[in-house]
Amino acid sequence: MPKLTLGLVGLGNIGTFLAQGIIDHDLPYKLTFANEVDEQRANEFCKRFPEHSVQLTDLDTLAARSKVIVEAAHPSVVPVIAQKALLAAQQVEATKYLFVMSVGGLLQLSEEFYRDLSGSYFKIIAPSGAIGGLDAFSSMTLESVDYVRLTTRKPPEALGRKDKEVTEIYRGAPKPAFEKFPKNVNVSITLGLATVGLDKMEFVLVSDPNLTQNIHEIEASGAAGNVHIVLKNVPSPSNPRTSYIAALSIISALRRFSQNLLVGY
Ligand SMILES: NC(=O)c1ccc[n+]([C@@H]2O[C@H](COP(=O)([O-])OP(=O)(O)OC[C@H]3O[C@@H](n4cnc5c(N)ncnc54)[C@H](O)[C@@H]3O)[C@@H](O)[C@H]2O)c1
Repeated sequence: MPKLTLGLVGLGNIGTFLAQGIIDHDLPYKLTFANEVDEQRANEFCKRFPEHSVQLTDLDTLAARSKVIVEAAHPSVVPVIAQKALLAAQQVEATKYLFVMSVGGLLQLSEEFYRDLSGSYFKIIAPSGAIGGLDAFSSMTLESVDYVRLTTRKPPEALGRKDKEVTEIYRGAPKPAFEKFPKNVNVSITLGLATVGLDKMEFVLVSDPNLTQNIHEIEASGAAGNVHIVLKNVPSPSNPRTSYIAALSIISALRRFSQNLLVGY
């Protein structure tokens, strides 16, 4: 497969990990364009990865000239880059793909955007991030489902808290949780969008001082059976706030995207 031109928005933990992953796993992407608000970080990134010959650029250029765009920055940038990429794909009538890590940002896109997206040449892909098993949970929703529930347990410091005891800090639908804890609920948005929708699933967020890692427990029951999985995630070596598996998930998603034989899709 010829190398696809890739534009990367956000050169922090996940962005840096991806740049290294493209080299380590010889992925067929040419990381050509990048956008980062922190100028010093951007320059350090370019020095660290001379093999990529990255051009730092604005979002318009990145959106217009990249075949594949990866957002690994902040939810607020998602509607901006998504609009620009959709417009660019419409103008040249050519396919374009946006991989979104800050999935909460997808909630900020208008109904009009989603109308234009459907049937366009543009596709948005949300990797599984810090959770997994979404293929099974998604398959279940083709038949009746009684419930889908995600319980996320994190050490208090990961939630910016100082709890001395196990404390349930949220129970309800994912959307209001995103407004309160935008950095901690990506997974609930991903699960909701992949299954029964954001209003029908239950999300529970627990602060647990006994933990050193993030634990996500997903339970679903319906006509196809019961599925129950638990993910005990270790933090990324370079950023303890991001689960290692979340950083790996974008590399895995891009690798699968480039393959001709897709297994477990
Ligand atoms: N889907 C998931 O399961 C999952 C898991 C972990 C992290 N995330 C999300 O992925 C994103 C990246 O995570 P990270 O650990 O790499 O964070 P990070 O803080 O290490 O890096 C983010 C980078 O983006 C830059 N940035 C912020 N706003 C920007 C903007 N408007 N334009 C360009 N650059 C901008 C920052 O300066 C920083 O360098 C975050 O939004 C995080 O919440 C999602």
